[in-house]
Amino acid sequence: MALSVGVPRESAPGEARVALAPDAVKRLVRKGCEVIVERGAGEPAFLSDGVFEAAGARLGTRAEALGCEAVATVAGLGHADLGAIREGAVVIGMLRPLDDPEPVRQLAARGATAVAMELVPRTSRAQRMDALSAMSTVAGYRAALLAALHLPRFFPLLTTAAGTVRPARVLVIGAGVAGLQALATARRLGAVTAAYDVREAAREQVESVGASFVELDLDAGDQEDAGGYAKALAADQQARQVAALAKVLPEYNAVITTALIPGRAAPQLITADGLAGMMPGSVIVDLAAANGGNVDASRPDEPVVSHGVTVLGPTNLPAEMPTHASEMYGRTVAAFLLEFLDDDGALHLDPDDEIVAGAVVARGGEIVHPRVLAALEPATP
Ligand code: NAI
Repeated sequence: MALSVGVPRESAPGEARVALAPDAVKRLVRKGCEVIVERGAGEPAFLSDGVFEAAGARLGTRAEALGCEAVATVAGLGHADLGAIREGAVVIGMLRPLDDPEPVRQLAARGATAVAMELVPRTSRAQRMDALSAMSTVAGYRAALLAALHLPRFFPLLTTAAGTVRPARVLVIGAGVAGLQALATARRLGAVTAAYDVREAAREQVESVGASFVELDLDAGDQEDAGGYAKALAADQQARQVAALAKVLPEYNAVITTALIPGRAAPQLITADGLAGMMPGSVIVDLAAANGGNVDASRPDEPVVSHGVTVLGPTNLPAEMPTHASEMYGRTVAAFLLEFLDDDGALHLDPDDEIVAGAVVARGGEIVHPRVLAALEPATP
């Protein structure tokens, strides 16, 4: 029997994405799935009911979408929706179980299987399901645009009758997925770009997008772990990093910070001292604001002006570009479902599969993910 996949309209404030865009619906329908999209679910992303129908979806009520065997979401389900899901339903989304495990605990209590797309491991096999990278690409692009928009100067070099304008200098700190996209975007807009990262491997990638690599003498060695992620710096190295960065910050008009160690609070990179040395009118976009921030002064979704520097901490940039963000996210969700759809059209999530082990956080009424279990444990006094 065909797997039914429901797509409710997102209910989180400010969330404009939809979990499956029409092309992802088409892929699932082609493989025999029945996709039920809540009427109006795509509207905030400028995707009409008509385009979903044309892709093979059936339009339905919210209750019908929530009553499917698999429920595809962007940001999970609200408490009010839990009563509408069926026992044993598979609920997929960016469930943020490590930041706030409570909604996942509630899903588990309903007997649902919860799939956290942000925990899909970053391996070659799982690349098509890597929702985090897809959304970081959007965020990096938007961060560069935001920096350009808030800078009281041009990004590009201009030679005009009114004189020559020198290009802006943009520094990206943390040259992962978001950082590299921010660099490429800033360069397309004509800025002179540079980046810094604790991983030695980032140098080549930074240079491949036309940016120069900033050296800081931290005496820390290469900070890449076996999985390709950065290791956390020791406290003294981190203090040296903050001081060394403060010395280079005055050279830049715009700074985009994206430094992240998975599962930890964002490392602090720019303090009041660093800000004080920057040119007035400079702009910082802190992409890690939701995880504590790389910049002391940043506040989630609240622009701050400190020492004449505008500090932005946007927490959901993908929702600001919802059409493409929905298309990209939806493809990762469809890829996940199709990877585990067996020949009889049933979803078979084998707990021994490394992608399933990474992303499934609750099943059979229980939280099964060790990191989420640890997050649920009461803090020791
Ligand atoms: P990533 O893991 O690909 O990149 C993070 C980079 O930071 C890595 O290259 C790592 O080596 C580097 N890094 C770690 N510690 C560092 C340090 N102390 N100094 C310099 N570099 C350091 O992660 P990705 O996917 O690019 O995400 C980056 C950030 O963007 C995350 O904080 C993520 O939560 C955030 N994000 C924000 C969004 C928004 O709308 N605000 C949307 C999507 C992602």
